[in-house]
Amino acid sequence: MAATNAQDALSALKDRSLFIEEAYINGKWDKKAKTFDVFEPSTATVLGKVANCEVQDFHDAIAAADVAQRDFEENTTAAQRGAILRKWNDLILANLDDLGTILSLENGKTIAEAKGEVTYAASFIAWFAEEATRSYGYTIPSSTPHTNVYTTKEAVGVCGIITPWNFPAAMITRKVAPAIAAGCSVVIKPPSETPYSALALAKLGELAGIPAGLVNVLPTRDRQAATELATHPTVRKISFTGSTGVGKMLAKLAAGTLKKVSLELGGNAPFIVFDDADLDLVIEGVMISKFRCSGQTCVCANRLLVQKGIAPEFNRRLVEAVSKLKMGFGLDSATTQGPLVNKSAVDKVNQHIEDAVSKGAKIEFGGKNDENQKGFFAIPTVLSGVTPQMLVANDETFGPLAPIFEFETEEDALKLANDTEFGLAGYFFSRNVGRCLRVARKLQVGMVGVNTGKISAAEAPFGGVKESGYGREGSLFGIEEYQVIKSVTVGNLNK
Ligand code: SIN
Repeated sequence: MAATNAQDALSALKDRSLFIEEAYINGKWDKKAKTFDVFEPSTATVLGKVANCEVQDFHDAIAAADVAQRDFEENTTAAQRGAILRKWNDLILANLDDLGTILSLENGKTIAEAKGEVTYAASFIAWFAEEATRSYGYTIPSSTPHTNVYTTKEAVGVCGIITPWNFPAAMITRKVAPAIAAGCSVVIKPPSETPYSALALAKLGELAGIPAGLVNVLPTRDRQAATELATHPTVRKISFTGSTGVGKMLAKLAAGTLKKVSLELGGNAPFIVFDDADLDLVIEGVMISKFRCSGQTCVCANRLLVQKGIAPEFNRRLVEAVSKLKMGFGLDSATTQGPLVNKSAVDKVNQHIEDAVSKGAKIEFGGKNDENQKGFFAIPTVLSGVTPQMLVANDETFGPLAPIFEFETEEDALKLANDTEFGLAGYFFSRNVGRCLRVARKLQVGMVGVNTGKISAAEAPFGGVKESGYGREGSLFGIEEYQVIKSVTVGNLNK
């Protein structure tokens, strides 16, 4: 029977040693004197106390990562790096139940979603195990006689990795797997809300044969310590997933030593429903895109733009689907919507509802939560009559709020959709092939879902345009973020 509370669930882990509260530096597990509390969000009670690393720990980890990286790049073949990654993938899948439980407890997402995320996390490792061996260079015809020009791809070096709490496992592997495949080392600052998945993954990485110092995990709540990753001259690359504000700050700090930077930042995804759409597909798509992780993903539909003719039927069908959602403890198999990460996340949803209603929107389902409730729950809510003057039009809600805007023409839909500084994901539904090609081209985003709400996969490039950041993760491009091109000119070949 599934555990009904966090401490029973931890006791029931098949391998209790995967729940780790220590830092991992240079291949050693380090129980720090200073710790911070991590909460289980459905009850807002303490789940555990994890090591709180300081500036000196980051210096130590960066120094160890530098030594480990040089050795690793010099002395392993791409095939050997691929083999280590494959073993890591296998161990993760073998421990799926425990990793899912740990992830669900720290993040709140349902056990089904948590296990889905662990599988998704492993898929990046399996993918980059293959990509390791496909890093080709060029030979280039030279303009000088008796000369050869060729290129190789080298590891960028030590990488600083800063990840978010909404995908505690997948955002680690989407960055670390290509880094290892390329021959880099990493110093990870996991999210302080959800550090346990990162530590469990590191433990399995150690068992898979990742050498000491190559992967370091340093939980911290000390901003100054984490900032070391963006400023320390030995770190040559920084990869961050999180808010646009923090991304801009990291890019500025990283500019001091001209690090390579990739940023996967906030979104404000439009989800457009044209009159000619298949409504069954639309409802399936919107439930995935809007309510996955209780609405806390960067690619979540933030604005539902619905053509006037289909709006009444769409509203009715959406309310019907949303009314079936069940909020609760993530490990309860009946739960379909876990809590949000913390109180300020719930406050933001309430603020967006309050603002929209005060400006004329209508609550079709749900509404603000009871402020005295236990745990960080936000009620899945559908609003109609939403307009560009409302907060939700420009600000990512990051919660289970589905605001419906109506539009008349394709041109109006595109204008509304692109009227934002963000450009991560966009979705639309239509059965008109010409429109599908046209709208996919005209949406100012890095990722488009056409007649689907599911766009995330190891093989698909993930990343945005505009203020949603730069760089691509996953796919054949993801490894390039951890490489530098060297060109070699060999002259006087027949002298
Ligand atoms: C994110 O929200 O940052 C990632 C979502 C995904 O990989 O689908």
